[in-house]
Amino acid sequence: VIYEAVRRVGFLLDPEVAHRMALVAARVGRPLSTARARRHRSHPVTAFGLSFRNPLGLAAGYDKDGTAWRGLAAVGFGHVEIGTVTPRPQRGNPRPRLERIPDRRALVNRLGFPSDGAQVVARRLSRHRQRKVILGVSIGPNADTPPSRRLDDYLVLIDTFAPLADYLAINVSSPNTAGLRDLERPDALAALLRDIVVRRDEAARRLGRAVPLLVKLSPDSEAPGALGAVAADAGADGLIVGNTTTARDGMTAGLPVGGLSGEPLGPLAARRLDEVIAGAGLPVIACGGVMTADDVDQRLAAGAILVQIYTGLVYRGPRLVHEVLDG
Ligand SMILES: Cc1cc2nc3c(=O)[nH]c(=O)nc-3n(C[C@H](O)[C@H](O)[C@H](O)COP(=O)(O)O)c2cc1C
Repeated sequence: VIYEAVRRVGFLLDPEVAHRMALVAARVGRPLSTARARRHRSHPVTAFGLSFRNPLGLAAGYDKDGTAWRGLAAVGFGHVEIGTVTPRPQRGNPRPRLERIPDRRALVNRLGFPSDGAQVVARRLSRHRQRKVILGVSIGPNADTPPSRRLDDYLVLIDTFAPLADYLAINVSSPNTAGLRDLERPDALAALLRDIVVRRDEAARRLGRAVPLLVKLSPDSEAPGALGAVAADAGADGLIVGNTTTARDGMTAGLPVGGLSGEPLGPLAARRLDEVIAGAGLPVIACGGVMTADDVDQRLAAGAILVQIYTGLVYRGPRLVHEVLDG
């Protein structure tokens, strides 16, 4: 009820302003919500060698700069994926770049990785080494890095965040950085991951522990099962299926340009999940269009090991998390 009232007011505001307020609320609200005991009906999950207290996670892009993840964890998530972080700070695309489509329970974004940059985010994370939640860091190249140097961006980010993250997520699937999805062609992905895995292995040796590496795929690639197999062959530990879609069908024709998320993405994301699970042989985190506890059940029944949400949290608030975990 409270979230509904807050949401009504929030939805009168510019989406980015409302989002910033939500992050502040998550930050300052943390002591309150942690004080309240919460029983999780859901079971712990072991995946990628990590112990998750429950299968529900917050998808990348909500807490891009790692300012609010502890408060978001207190909402109940078993894992929070911050980022996507870029090596150097960048502003992202000009505004407006985030739109709500309330009657469809959808968002369309063209943010283009606004980021405080790796150094600032790393310093923020290093203040809180002790944590109760699994922390993933999603990494991606700067917009002005030429394609031939994108690998170097990922390598720098691996060196920076391997010591600070429980897992790293390689973002090759945002539609809002020009040409990024070229890295999702099987040959390009294989070459990229070969070098990334070498660097990850070096970091793991230095740290004396595993550094799980996940690859986040787009729902728009033609053969996601084959891409999953490429990632498995290269030595990745898991997949996230997936990112927002640029596709528009009869149901979504007329929506703005950019990455579509939320309810209309659900059927496509579920189909891609099935294809990847059939083809990849790696554990898969389901993401895309999960708006209800039933959606979570369906994704887990389809074989996903964990489930992430973003747009569902925007439209339904913490109630969705409670419905999933306690309902
Ligand atoms: C405003 C916005 C920003 C996002 N930023 C990122 C990002 O930086 N990195 C990333 O991997 N995914 C990003 N995503 C994609 C989400 O993590 C998720 O894959 C997608 O929204 C589908 O899930 P949903 O339907 O539950 O929202 C973003 C999504 C939205 C709506």
